Amino acid sequence: MVSPGAPPRLELSGISKRFAGVAALEGVDFRLAAGEVHGLVGENGAGKSTLMKIIAGVHAEYEGEMRLDGRPVRFRNPREARDAGIGMVHQELSIVPALSVAENVLLGRQPLNRLGLVAWRRMRAAARAQLEALGLDIDPAVPAGSLPLGLQQMVELARVLLSGARILILDEPTSALSPPEVEWLFALLDRLRADGRSVVFISHFLDDVLRVSDSVTVFRNGRRVGSAAAREAGKPWLIERMIGAGHERLEESYSEAIPLAPRSRAPVVLAVEELGVEGLFGPASLELHAGEVLGLYGFMGSGQLDLARALSGKLRPDRGTVRVDGRVARLGRGTPGAKRAGIAYVPESRRAMLFAGESVTRNISIAVLERINRLLLRPRQERRIAEGHVRRLGIRPARVDLPVGQLSGGNQQKVALARWLTHLPRVLLLSEPTRGMDVGAKDDVVRIVRGLREQGVGILVVSSEPETVLSLADRILVMRRGLLAEEFAGEAVGKDRLLAAA
Ligand SMILES: Nc1ncnc2c1ncn2[C@@H]1O[C@H](COP(=O)(O)OP(=O)(O)OP(=O)(O)O)[C@@H](O)[C@H]1O
Ligand SMILES: [Mg+2]
Repeated sequence: MVSPGAPPRLELSGISKRFAGVAALEGVDFRLAAGEVHGLVGENGAGKSTLMKIIAGVHAEYEGEMRLDGRPVRFRNPREARDAGIGMVHQELSIVPALSVAENVLLGRQPLNRLGLVAWRRMRAAARAQLEALGLDIDPAVPAGSLPLGLQQMVELARVLLSGARILILDEPTSALSPPEVEWLFALLDRLRADGRSVVFISHFLDDVLRVSDSVTVFRNGRRVGSAAAREAGKPWLIERMIGAGHERLEESYSEAIPLAPRSRAPVVLAVEELGVEGLFGPASLELHAGEVLGLYGFMGSGQLDLARALSGKLRPDRGTVRVDGRVARLGRGTPGAKRAGIAYVPESRRAMLFAGESVTRNISIAVLERINRLLLRPRQERRIAEGHVRRLGIRPARVDLPVGQLSGGNQQKVALARWLTHLPRVLLLSEPTRGMDVGAKDDVVRIVRGLREQGVGILVVSSEPETVLSLADRILVMRRGLLAEEFAGEAVGKDRLLAAA
């Protein structure tokens, strides 16, 4: 694919980028060949998204040079980058939920009729044909926001793939996808490569990165610390460069069987009997003990997220009962009911709960605002609480006055988590608590969850990533097609057995 002597498709040299004086990138060189899938990894805040946003024209202010097919380019906005054949799928979903799937897929390329108006029927037909060509059977007429998260992500991928871009940047495209959907994406990447298109693939799933990439690059603290052919770079090589040595334990939890705790004898804090929502999940019964971390694992769409939503009051159950400390909880009336019953909930779409323009401190204290009013918490106290969380969660940069919108994706997630740690609930529901976090940040979450467990909180960790439940849970329930299918306790369990049970 790469002819000798030909310039790389894309070449960046000496790229530096500062935000309000703070360096996000320092003297970064990066090359992307034609027909290459290039994996990009690094800790939360390492600068991956920032470099990609420079390539995609989102950040126009930077130092250094960018060459496309050997010619110097400098994009002033995303449109110029798009016109030059660069497409980016952002880390945060950017589809428009109220618009139809067809409009989202063809955004900016809608077919027009003779009067210059959008030709709806033609647009739907075109969208359907294009989605089918990608192997997707999605009704183009439905609002994109009504689809499950995984399909929304696939619609977004389709939009960029179908735009004809020669350079595709995928910033964490798989974190909302189920295993079959991930396979779909990887098959597509092979086709793109065969087509001679170039792809940058950013992910915290190192196995995935090594599997799909031709070459890999590691970022650390705004610098490029290594590049290699993917078949020569193993996972230890990547991890060592990302965070240094000493993470063997976490590394283990990804491949080997993890010993689970024997069944707890502590009092039951949460008792769920025959809970169900027609068409989504159930009837499901389970018990959660004080000081126990119960993992609830299932493929995307198996009902585990809905079960958590029902327990949080976000979704009205149409059968069953829920007891907290033996008392019947009146759920299905919104989160206040659940909160009163002692159930706290951190949903999977945490970034949507944050106020991007507000400081880290404000975002952390919002969860306890009622309490703060009652206690007349002073700004200094508010700040001290926030600083404590920032330290314990390893939020970087460690500045509580920064607007949350200026943190990297993974660090924003940590702020969303910190919010609920200020006063202890009886039951804590964590939905996908480590999605989008790097290995080190996941370690931080493990520590926080262990700390809460020590204090007697009953914790339900709901996830579609086997690694997440394996690294956190004392006991694991597997959900399959809306029903609790299997329980693992008091033995060693690996990823393979969870996958087999799901
Ligand atoms: N708009 C912004 N304003 C100020 N600082 C920013 C802005 N965007 C990013 N930063 C800072 O730049 C640094 C790099 O962030 P970036 O989003 O590129 O990290 P990342 O490698 O993509 O991390 P993650 O894996 O968490 O997504 C971080 O310290 C971040 O706080
Ligand atoms: Mg990022």
